[in-house]
Amino acid sequence: MISDNLWVEETLKKLNLVKDMNQSNGFTRLGFSKEENEAKKEFQSIAKDLNLMTHEDAAGNCWALWEVDKAVPIVAMGSHLDTVYNGGGYDGVVGVLSALTAVKRLKDKGFKPKKNIAIIVFSCEESARFGISTVGSKALTGLLDKNEVANITDENGISVREAVNQSGLNWGKIEKASLDAEKIEQFIEVHIEQGKKLINNKKEIGIVHRIARPTRFIINCEGLTNHTGTTEMKDRQDALTAISPLINGIEKTTNQINEKNASSLVATVSTFSVKPNAMNMIPGKVSLGIDIRSTDSSLKNELVDYIRSFVEKVKRSRNVAIKVNKIADDLPVELNEKIQENLFNSCNKVGFSNMKMNSGAGHDVMNMSHICASGLLFIPCTEGISHNPREYTSVSNILKGTKVLEQYLEDNF
Ligand code: HGY
Ligand code: MN
Ligand code: MN
Repeated sequence: MISDNLWVEETLKKLNLVKDMNQSNGFTRLGFSKEENEAKKEFQSIAKDLNLMTHEDAAGNCWALWEVDKAVPIVAMGSHLDTVYNGGGYDGVVGVLSALTAVKRLKDKGFKPKKNIAIIVFSCEESARFGISTVGSKALTGLLDKNEVANITDENGISVREAVNQSGLNWGKIEKASLDAEKIEQFIEVHIEQGKKLINNKKEIGIVHRIARPTRFIINCEGLTNHTGTTEMKDRQDALTAISPLINGIEKTTNQINEKNASSLVATVSTFSVKPNAMNMIPGKVSLGIDIRSTDSSLKNELVDYIRSFVEKVKRSRNVAIKVNKIADDLPVELNEKIQENLFNSCNKVGFSNMKMNSGAGHDVMNMSHICASGLLFIPCTEGISHNPREYTSVSNILKGTKVLEQYLEDNF
């Protein structure tokens, strides 16, 4: 039998569809893309080798079930295999890999669970493609607002509905995924921290208490495209000069809010387009996307007030039209206290240093916590870097997360 280290290394590469994890351009497996489907197929083949029963639900979430008794509930684990553009090979993959490895190790030592154990790979967790996240786990937990998201398009003009249908699913039936959720009693996700708290505190495992969820806007500013050589400054309706002070204003206001408060707020103007984007044409249309996160909603609201008041001022002082479109506004999630306590106990049993912490990133567990008691474990990643080809964590860190998960299953099921 090959060593756990080698099995983890090989399975990591399989789930990432590569022979070598050193990919200078990182990994791009967008939600509902053929690359995400290929990674899910790899997952199903690895699960079948572990004698797990696999199936796909109506949202494309892939399940692998260690069934001991049809009549008893399911304890689920898992995460996602889609990535951002040119992202890392560990975000999401670690959660799937540690769940597979925990099941393998438990089977290898003849453990007999009293409950059914499932591993779920959720579809389209990342918001990179459509600006909205965790579509698969929202569908599974009844949180997907189909009308709200159906027509949101990616950068190629493909809508969520079209992408779901093109991936081989049926958008009209996606909400039926929730039928599979009824028997889930608990859900635990393992994920890289995607930050530096564990490194800075020299801890091996993070046990998450609260998850910040995003408030997001698309702001469209429309002026008048005109000739850069012949249009006098006083006659311009330049959409770019009208809206661009908002970009630094958001950063400055966020820093000011953080100076006055204990909990932290982060805000990013993360998408930006200018049209027609031609050297001799005054920008007539500018669109920018804003991602705002905090575990304290009042801080998010304070920044939103600043954004809205800036827009009103520009509308009055500049001859441009501005549309503010809110595409997400989710409240922070508190995870189950009892599960956190049990995770601490299992973590102390296997002897890994640990700390209670919050998550600035969103995860599928935030939706799963809507239907069952849920928990989130973090392992460190190098320099806290994520959503970047340099994202990395070691096999030994992955095995630490795995061993806590394994101990937790043995202690509680
Ligand atoms: O954006 C996020 O919070 C994560 O990558 N899903
Ligand atoms: Mn991510
Ligand atoms: Mn993730």
